[in-house]
Amino acid sequence: MSRASRAPFVVAHRGASAARPEHTLAAYELALQEGADGVECDIRLTKDGHLVCVHDRTVDRTSNGTGAVSEMTLDELKSLDFSMNGTEPAEVLTLSELIELVLDWKSRPTKLFIETKHPVRYGALVETTLLNELQRYGIATPASADHSRAVVMSFAATAVWRIRRAAPLLPTVLLGESSLYLSGGAATTVGATAVGPSVRTLREHPDLVDKAAAAGRATYVWTVDDHEDVKLCAELGVDWVATNHPGRTKNSLDA
Ligand code: G3P
Ligand code: CA
Repeated sequence: MSRASRAPFVVAHRGASAARPEHTLAAYELALQEGADGVECDIRLTKDGHLVCVHDRTVDRTSNGTGAVSEMTLDELKSLDFSMNGTEPAEVLTLSELIELVLDWKSRPTKLFIETKHPVRYGALVETTLLNELQRYGIATPASADHSRAVVMSFAATAVWRIRRAAPLLPTVLLGESSLYLSGGAATTVGATAVGPSVRTLREHPDLVDKAAAAGRATYVWTVDDHEDVKLCAELGVDWVATNHPGRTKNSLDA
């Protein structure tokens, strides 16, 4: 069942989020120090049109505030503490701040895996704002998908399709939990360059990796924190694993 020719690349899920508060500068700095090949973030639009790195619809779980991200301005969000208590105070991170951190990290060309959260309810506004942002940093139009510094991901097929149409060389991942959905026509229809099953889906359908490869697609698996799952992904030839423990995962793949 193995087609592995090299170990999967390691993506820090919400930064090194097992050790630092998710989506904070501290979490991403640690991920970069630990040698992550990529960093993952979720993005949402604020009331005044900025993209911020927040997973949930509201800030309730991850900050000392309450309310929906979409109903708060960036200034309001910046006044909250996202450090989850007991650590140094941490501001909400904007996508621009994360891009700058990654591009300034000179020791390796770390990739940025950007997941748009529930973009469909905003029409194309999330995708347009995101592409403008990537354009501003000169990374929206890579010379080739392989050399792209950004990868755009979504559970929403429409969002992936919009990105592919507007920026054909930008790599995209269609995320999902159904093997039928990922290995069937959806990824082809929207032109995704990779499919992104959960690790549970991969355990149940290990043939997904070969099916994706046969269709010319890479595989990105989330969230791979267990040692046995890391081994399984390596054996199957998964291209990218997203993990909350980037340092530990890199070490176990190198061992
Ligand atoms: O990397 C994809 C994965 O992050 C999707 O799940 O809920 O952690 O955004 P979630
Ligand atoms: Ca995510």
